[in-house]
Amino acid sequence: MGHTTRDSGALEIADLHKSYGRVEVLKGVSIKAGQGEFISLVGPSGCGKTTTLNIVAGFEQPDSGDVSLNGSSLVPLPSHKRGLGMVFQNHALFPHMTVLENVGFGLTMSGIAKAEVAKRASETLRLVRLEGFEARYPRELSGGQQQRVGIARALTVNPKVLLMDEPLSSLDAKLRREMQVELRRIQKSVGITALYVTHDQEEALSLSDRVVLMNRGHIEQMGTPKEIYAHPVTEFAAGFIGEATFLDAVMRDIRGSESLVDLACGAQVLVPHRRGTSVGDRLRIAIRPDRLRISTADGAATTLTGIVVASVFVGSMQRIVARLADGSEVLIAANATTSLPGPDATISVTAAPSDWMVFPHGDQT
Ligand SMILES: Nc1ncnc2c1ncn2[C@@H]1O[C@H](COP(=O)(O)OP(=O)(O)OP(=O)(O)O)[C@@H](O)[C@H]1O
Ligand SMILES: [Mg+2]
Repeated sequence: MGHTTRDSGALEIADLHKSYGRVEVLKGVSIKAGQGEFISLVGPSGCGKTTTLNIVAGFEQPDSGDVSLNGSSLVPLPSHKRGLGMVFQNHALFPHMTVLENVGFGLTMSGIAKAEVAKRASETLRLVRLEGFEARYPRELSGGQQQRVGIARALTVNPKVLLMDEPLSSLDAKLRREMQVELRRIQKSVGITALYVTHDQEEALSLSDRVVLMNRGHIEQMGTPKEIYAHPVTEFAAGFIGEATFLDAVMRDIRGSESLVDLACGAQVLVPHRRGTSVGDRLRIAIRPDRLRISTADGAATTLTGIVVASVFVGSMQRIVARLADGSEVLIAANATTSLPGPDATISVTAAPSDWMVFPHGDQT
């Protein structure tokens, strides 16, 4: 895998632009997916995820830009000749057809003999772990089973790329998590290239080889889940992928590779120095909840002091919200086994300077 052969599913989306009326909804979207790669498109509602997928699928034409598979443009081809499999949120199985007939539908349509259709449909059903369900009707299946039939139906025609638009969003949380694992297993075992749309950032992080974060028709950041979580390039990316507390800050002093910043609550903290910023600049600093520690070293130079306003047990973690002197709030995730302060307790919170993320003030657009 990772190699591009003539028959592989190397997908390239190049500089797509698309407007509806006077509104430009895609402003130059470019994504390269290698053979077998699982790529998620994630971003807020209306940012252009479905439009991008629809252009790849051939349901929409781009105003400019190209979509190609192994170097050949797909844009002139009708949807059914693009070699793509599709799974959508409301994928509606045919209610009057059995599971086997649903899964074999694409093959039947292309004129393949009945016995061969049944054989290949059965193989795909085994892949999604639904052997024995061939004769059932969709209404006799659970939500997760229906979803697996939808995936099997998309896979039976041997597509080079699998397109999925929020395929799990109608499932409850537990089933959804199970199906994420299943989906990843199926995609890996087939070795198919996958383009997956979700607005659930956790789902994107857990499923993908790479995540494409979209915002208002452009790509904000693209990278592995780890890269994007640990090194968000903008305040938007830091806020959308994973949780973070954001605080306004003014730079007071540069100390080697670190900066000392003043916060509105009156405290000062050390953060990594961000290139291009200087003393007096307004900044936004951010930190993940699990990088903050409740400390007893009250009054240390770079400690935040706050009052606990909420403390919620969430299984393995305790989530604590503390209010600082200026009214801003910080979110702390603490190990639930340690004894933790209750509401109204005054606490001190510290972080390693390197765990702070630093952004220019007002880059959030
Ligand atoms: N056929 C259309 N005509 C006019 N505007 C459209 C059309 N399709 C989409 N849009 C607009 O284009 C923008 C992008 O829509 P798109 O469906 O791609 O968003 P999305 O990222 O998939 O959002 P969601 O997470 O809500 O599904 C939105 O502002 C939407 O209103
Ligand atoms: Mg959408």
